[in-house]
Amino acid sequence: MYSIFNLTNGGIILDKLVINGPTRLKGEVNISGAKNAAVAILPATLLINGVCTIDNMPNISDVKIYCNILEELGAKITWTGKNEIQVDTRNISCKNVPIDMTSKFRASYYLLGSLLGRCGSAEVGVPGGCKLGARPIDQHIKGFEALGAKVDVTGGKIVAKAKKLTGNHIYMDIVSVGATINVMLASVLAEGTTTIDNPAKEPHIVDVANFLNTMGADIRGAGTDVIKINGVKELKGNITYSVVPDQIEAGTFMLAAVASRGDILIKNCVAEHLDSVIAKIVEVGANVEDLGDSIHVWMNKRPSKAIIKTLPYPGFPTDLQPQMGVCLSLADGTSIINESIWESRFQYTEELNKMGAKITAQGKSAIFEGVKSLTGAPVYMTDLRAGAALIIAGISASGTTEVYNLDHIDRGYENIEEKFRKLGAKIQRVTE
Ligand code: EPU
Repeated sequence: MYSIFNLTNGGIILDKLVINGPTRLKGEVNISGAKNAAVAILPATLLINGVCTIDNMPNISDVKIYCNILEELGAKITWTGKNEIQVDTRNISCKNVPIDMTSKFRASYYLLGSLLGRCGSAEVGVPGGCKLGARPIDQHIKGFEALGAKVDVTGGKIVAKAKKLTGNHIYMDIVSVGATINVMLASVLAEGTTTIDNPAKEPHIVDVANFLNTMGADIRGAGTDVIKINGVKELKGNITYSVVPDQIEAGTFMLAAVASRGDILIKNCVAEHLDSVIAKIVEVGANVEDLGDSIHVWMNKRPSKAIIKTLPYPGFPTDLQPQMGVCLSLADGTSIINESIWESRFQYTEELNKMGAKITAQGKSAIFEGVKSLTGAPVYMTDLRAGAALIIAGISASGTTEVYNLDHIDRGYENIEEKFRKLGAKIQRVTE
């Protein structure tokens, strides 16, 4: 899926988005299931010997890659609806992990927790994914070792083995989404009780815990400061589950309404998951109506300046920082964003500057001197959320914007251009 047709690789460009702006987005949009929950729930199915039906599964390339990996392991995957999938894990061979596929893909690290839980051993390529700076996995390894596994990183692979997994008390030195989920996956079938102190609290943590509990796990406290997992002997299949709505996709459309000075009803989302984002967009002048399972956002003036710091949930999400950056590049006054999660999440600012933004990024901070308008230009997605930001910028800018490197956006947003088109955007995918 990581296309060789990519300018930064010196190859040939395959697809681009051509956007003619400016457009004030108006209408309704339906939010898909959460990518970051889906890519943990799929490997979690390996913990049972049976069939799971999962609904609200986003139809995105990260999910398709995960399905391919599960098939290589012997799972039978059937799409039973546009967003419904059936996973049959009765014939799994834990030894068949396709190392080359896993090393291109961040969420492949969840195979470590789930295969350790199912088979007591796992071998996975050192995970790739968006280039956001260093992405260590020491907290994952610390968690597995506390449960009794031996973990080695060698020859581009992570090899984990355990004769037996036993519950333990684990304090996370850093709040980590991936490590929290991985420890949950590895400990649901361990003997005794595992306690995770200082876990991540994102909605997808709660969703993965709910999924595991639906299969018979005993996880309490997901979404709070302490998670307790009482190991059970086995998990059962024949369950159906619906993936939580994607709060990052919902936030992306909220910020698109702000940047384009539009009026959008964002449906099938959980407003409570976006409290920090709602607070910040109200601060910059947006109107927001919290309707529980939908959010109405409208904006009829230039955003005002703001100071933002990204933080683990319930703080302002790093995965909405670039989209917020577009709003602040158009704000009245000078704004500051401090990125506290990733080292290199300001690569998109160089692209926005090509469109007339005035952003100075250094290290984990960026200063946005607001400009009145942006102008279309050829720009390149550097990662998934940078891609979403550039699309919002193209819709808000005057003239034509061409956005390249679409493999990034296809990883995490289902039918993004169609959703924006329905809101009035003039956006086309063009194959060259
Ligand atoms: N960290 C460590 N050691 C670890 C794990 C993480 O130092 O063992 C550090 C990271 O370097 C980072 C911070 O802790 O500075 C948080 O990392 P976390 O483990 O929470 O991130 P992740 O699990 O690798 C997930 C999402 C990211 C999202 C982050 C933060 C998935 C597949 N990815 O990554 O999503 O930015 O949590 O919320 O769930 C995206 O969707 O665009 C995306 C990048």
